[in-house]
Amino acid sequence: MEADLHSLQTAAVAAVSKAQNLSELTAVEVRFLGRKGEFTALAKKIVELPDAERKRIGQVANEVRQRITLALANRIGEIKMASRGNLADTEWIDVTEPGVAPAVGRLHFTTRIILEITQIFERLGFSRVRYPEAEWDWYAFEGLNMPKNHPARDEWETFFIEDPASNGAPEGARPLTDKKFGKMVLTPHTSSGQLREMERVRDLGGPPIRMINIAKCYRRQADVTHVPMFHQFEGLLIDRDVTIADLKGVLDYFAGEFFGPERVTRLRPFHFRFTEPSFEVDISCGVCGGTGFLEAGTVLKGTDLTALREKCRVCKEGWLELGGAGMVHPNVLKNGGLDPEKWSGFAFGWGVERSAMMKSGLKLDDLRIIYKNDLRVTL
Ligand code: PHE
Repeated sequence: MEADLHSLQTAAVAAVSKAQNLSELTAVEVRFLGRKGEFTALAKKIVELPDAERKRIGQVANEVRQRITLALANRIGEIKMASRGNLADTEWIDVTEPGVAPAVGRLHFTTRIILEITQIFERLGFSRVRYPEAEWDWYAFEGLNMPKNHPARDEWETFFIEDPASNGAPEGARPLTDKKFGKMVLTPHTSSGQLREMERVRDLGGPPIRMINIAKCYRRQADVTHVPMFHQFEGLLIDRDVTIADLKGVLDYFAGEFFGPERVTRLRPFHFRFTEPSFEVDISCGVCGGTGFLEAGTVLKGTDLTALREKCRVCKEGWLELGGAGMVHPNVLKNGGLDPEKWSGFAFGWGVERSAMMKSGLKLDDLRIIYKNDLRVTL
C-alpha cells in the first residue's frame, strides 16, 4: 500500500509538470484528487487495514496528498507566469493610435451671444447689469408711464404672480414715498431695469448712466416662432443734452460690430409709452443689401425693371425689424428720481435670440429648439 501511494505520487507529480496550460492541469487534478480519482480510490482502502497499519499509512497518504496539492499549486504559478510573458504578443496595444475624442461641451447658443453683445457695448463704456426677473408692476409698467388698465399693456402678454405681499414695498427697494408697487410679474421686457438703474445711480449721486441690461423675459406665448422665456438686451444712456443722433450712433456702432460693417440701421417712427419720440429700429438686410431685390441681371438704363426683379425672400423691402428705441420720457426720468430739466437720455430694447438668428442667417423652423437641450442640436 505504501509503495502504491508513492508510485501514485510520482505519477501525479510527473503529470503535473507535463501539463502545459490550466485546463490540462485541471484534468490532472481530477484524475488524481477528484471524487473518483486514483488517490481517492486508494485512500478509501485505508479503512480496511488493520489498526496498527492504518495510522501509519494514513499519515503517508496525507503527505502524498499534500505533495500533489503543492505540485499543482506551483505549476499553476508557473503557467500563469509563462502566459504573462506572452502578454506583449497576445494583448499588445498600439499606444500611438489616435484615441476616441471625448465629447466637448461649449457654452449655450444664447450665452455666447449675450457675451458678444456685452463686449460690444463695453467698448462704448456701457456696463452690464441685471435686475430681478420677478418684478413689481411699478417697474415693469406703471413707472414706465403705463397706468393701470392702459391698453398699451396688452402688447406685453404678462405672467402675473400671485403674491400676498402685493401692494407692499419690495424688500430692498428704495421707493420714492408715493410709489404704488402693484402686483408682481415675470418681467415681460428688460425695460423694468431702467427705473432700477436710475434708482441705483441716484443713490450714488446721480448720472451719467450707461447701462446694458441683458435678462430673461417672459410672455404668454408658445409656438414655432415664440418661446415663453426669451432674452432681451436693454440699453439706457442718461447724461446732459443727449440727442437722437447719439442714439443713432450707438445703434450703428452695434450693428456694424455685431452684424458686419456693411449693415446700417434706420429709425422708423413708432409709439412706446416710456419713450418720446419712439422708434422701431430696422437693420439693412444682409441678403439683398437693403435693396429688397435679388440681383437679376443688368438693369437697362432708364427702364423700370422693378416688376421683373426677384424680391428678396429674407426681408420685406430691404429692412429687418430689430427692436424698439427712443428718448426716455420725462415721466420715466421723474419716476426714477431724476430731474428731466437736467437730464436726458435714450433707451433701446431688442430680442437676443432674434438678433442672433439674424446675424447668423440661421433659419430655425421651430424656435423652441434653442431651449430643448437636445445634444444633437449644435447651434
Ligand atoms: N421694451 C420694449 C419692448 O419690449 C422695447 C423698447 C425698449 C422700446 C426701450 C423703447 C425703449 O418691446
